[in-house]
Amino acid sequence: MKKRVAILISGGGSNMEALVQDMDKTHPAEPVLVLSNTPDAGGLSKAEARGIPNVCVDHRPFKGDRVAFEAELTKALELAAPDIICLAGFMRILTPEFIERWQGKMLNIHPSILPLFRGLHTHKRALEAGMAVHGCTVHEVTGELDGGPILGQAVIPVKENDTESDLAERLLVQEHRLYPAVLRKFAAGDRTPITLFP
Ligand code: GRF
Repeated sequence: MKKRVAILISGGGSNMEALVQDMDKTHPAEPVLVLSNTPDAGGLSKAEARGIPNVCVDHRPFKGDRVAFEAELTKALELAAPDIICLAGFMRILTPEFIERWQGKMLNIHPSILPLFRGLHTHKRALEAGMAVHGCTVHEVTGELDGGPILGQAVIPVKENDTESDLAERLLVQEHRLYPAVLRKFAAGDRTPITLFP
C-alpha cells in the first residue's frame, strides 16, 4: 500500500510540484492533498491542473488564533488521512500541539544548511556571514523551530557578487532535487540522511 502524502504550501508550490512529479508508479507514496493557507497561492492551481485534491484553509479570518486555525487544518488533514505531511514553503508557525499530533510524520524544507540560519532571510544572512557555501535542509518537524532530525542536505557554492536572488534561484534547483529524494527514502522507511552536491 502506498503511503498517503499531504503537501502544505503558501506560495508558488514549485517544491510541491517537484514532489508530485517524482511520485510515479514506482514510488512508495502518492499525493492525496495539497493544502494552502492562502487562496492566492499559485500552487493550488498547479495541484488542480494535476488532478490532486486541493483545499485552502485561509488563516486570515482566524486573526492570529492559531489554535482555531489549526483545528480547521486538522479537519482537512484528517479527511485526507495522510501518513506523511510535507511542508513545502508553508509559511505559518505551528503550535506544539499540532506538531505533536503529526510527530514523526511531518517533514519540512528549509533554505539553509541547518542548524545555521534558522528562521527567515536565509540567503541574505548567508551572504552577510561571508559563507563560501549555502544550502538547503529537509528535516523532521519537531517542537523546535527549524530543528528536528536532518534527513538530507544539498549545498551550493556562494560565488563572488552573488545576490540574495541569485542564491535563491540556484538553491531552488537543489531543493527540487533534495526534497523528492528524501521523501522517496522516508516513505520507504529509510531515515538515513542524503547529501547532495552540485
Ligand atoms: C522555498 O525556497 C522554500 O525553501 C522556502 O520557500 C520557498 C518555497 O517555494 N521556505 P515554492 O512555493 O516551493 O515554489
